[in-house]
Amino acid sequence: MKDRCCHRTARLSKGRCKDGNIQCGYHGWVYNRSGRAGFYAETVIDAANPERFQRISGVKDAITQRHMRNAYYQQFSRRLAIEYPSGIRHIIINAFTPIDDGRMQLCQWQFRIDTEADCPAQMLIDFDDEITREDKDILESTDPDAVVDLRRRGVEYSMDSDRPGILIRPRLMALLSSAGEAEVHR
Ligand code: FES
Repeated sequence: MKDRCCHRTARLSKGRCKDGNIQCGYHGWVYNRSGRAGFYAETVIDAANPERFQRISGVKDAITQRHMRNAYYQQFSRRLAIEYPSGIRHIIINAFTPIDDGRMQLCQWQFRIDTEADCPAQMLIDFDDEITREDKDILESTDPDAVVDLRRRGVEYSMDSDRPGILIRPRLMALLSSAGEAEVHR
């Protein structure tokens, strides 16, 4: 198989083997032996809750639920609200800035409803740093020449949970053309 997920181009070699099938490490699309993609995507997910980080979620189990609510803002920022069964909520803001065709800078900050006595800020920073670095590894395996013009069908395949990203692209196309630019492909 090509070492490229047909969802968002992550390298499948960075994924894992699940029940004898290949599972992409990014969003979990699964490829069976005939090479067709299946998937699961949820906004309420079960997440590992290792003991050393349990003060972050306020949950004492090895697995916890994360209720994630994502909002995207033009051009490159998003607000991610994560709610745990304990009632603790974290709001993560991401702002992305393109640097050149192959690189971008990500800034991230977080708001929280719990206190320093509940969970030290440094623990939250270490936790997010670990997660962001895992994401960075697989994100860097995706093709930076992502398709913006959705009329180029067949380059990527999408599912319902991709809708925010799909809605953003025509706006990016409009922004490009308002600046007299056109999408250029390698
Ligand atoms: S599941 Fe492979 S890139 Fe999304």
